[in-house]
Amino acid sequence: MLKTNFLGVELASPLMNASGVHCMSIEELEELANSQAGAFITKTATQLEREGNSKPRYYDTKLGSINSMGLPNKGLDYYLNYVIERQQQGTQLQFLSVTEMSYEENINLLSKIQRSGYQGVTEFNLSCPNVPGKPQIAYDFELTKKLLSEVFTFFTKPLGVKLPPYFDIAHFDEMATILNKFPLTYVNSVNSIGNGLCINIDKEQVVIKPKGGFGGLGGEYIKPTALANVRAFRERLNPNIKIIGTGGVINGKDVFEHILCGADLVQVGTTLHKEGVDVFTRLNEELKVIMKEKGYTSLEQFRGRLKII
Ligand code: DHB
Repeated sequence: MLKTNFLGVELASPLMNASGVHCMSIEELEELANSQAGAFITKTATQLEREGNSKPRYYDTKLGSINSMGLPNKGLDYYLNYVIERQQQGTQLQFLSVTEMSYEENINLLSKIQRSGYQGVTEFNLSCPNVPGKPQIAYDFELTKKLLSEVFTFFTKPLGVKLPPYFDIAHFDEMATILNKFPLTYVNSVNSIGNGLCINIDKEQVVIKPKGGFGGLGGEYIKPTALANVRAFRERLNPNIKIIGTGGVINGKDVFEHILCGADLVQVGTTLHKEGVDVFTRLNEELKVIMKEKGYTSLEQFRGRLKII
């Protein structure tokens, strides 16, 4: 019932983790691989291992989460070796997430993946909001165009991009026009809504330490923005560019809504952090119940079919 074809691979479910949650170590990645998620993705890797920002740097709130992790990760080789090893075992679909701090470093990182034995999907994260002094790449349209133009002179493996949320129709238009110039496998919308601020009123204090308390928002706060971005890009992107919907998935209804807006796969971040990998079992069941109630037997029957009035 939940079968989803992605890059010619038949997945048992459209669900996977959002990069950053439950995917830092091989132990966590193995738990995802053994869960009811249809696919999984690594923590965004940089060339070298990073400690990330100082703690506390992640905080759960009633309506979601705020984080300023600062790209802690074990370095590209750790994740690249893991996904190469797993692909040789021919098991489930896996994604490698990467980014770097400068234009040249991004090119070098992707060149290294191109030269490696990895044949799977790479997610190029153009939207980390949390590295002090480093703006999110995909809010700079010219830079995004220039970077992707260079990447696609040499990169021939499946590549997707992770985007920040946009809030203006002109920005949806402009970014979609840029993305349509490239042979992208997919677009992932959205990353956390950058630089929110959550406050502990008793202490009259921010809840995370880095950047004076500013951090990326996830969870219930961001679902309408996430759905708008999925819908807007599905309406504008070439049909061969797939969409991964991310943001505000708490229950099966949220998964249904993402797919109705056009998502091929749906990622779970904050709720996975709160519940652990059993969340995928729950969400699969809740989605199936909704589909049964509505008389649907496959995701294709409602994917992208949001009605307007
Ligand atoms: C981090 C946060 C993000 O939203 C992201 O896309 C990448 C990294 C982080 O702070 O580690």
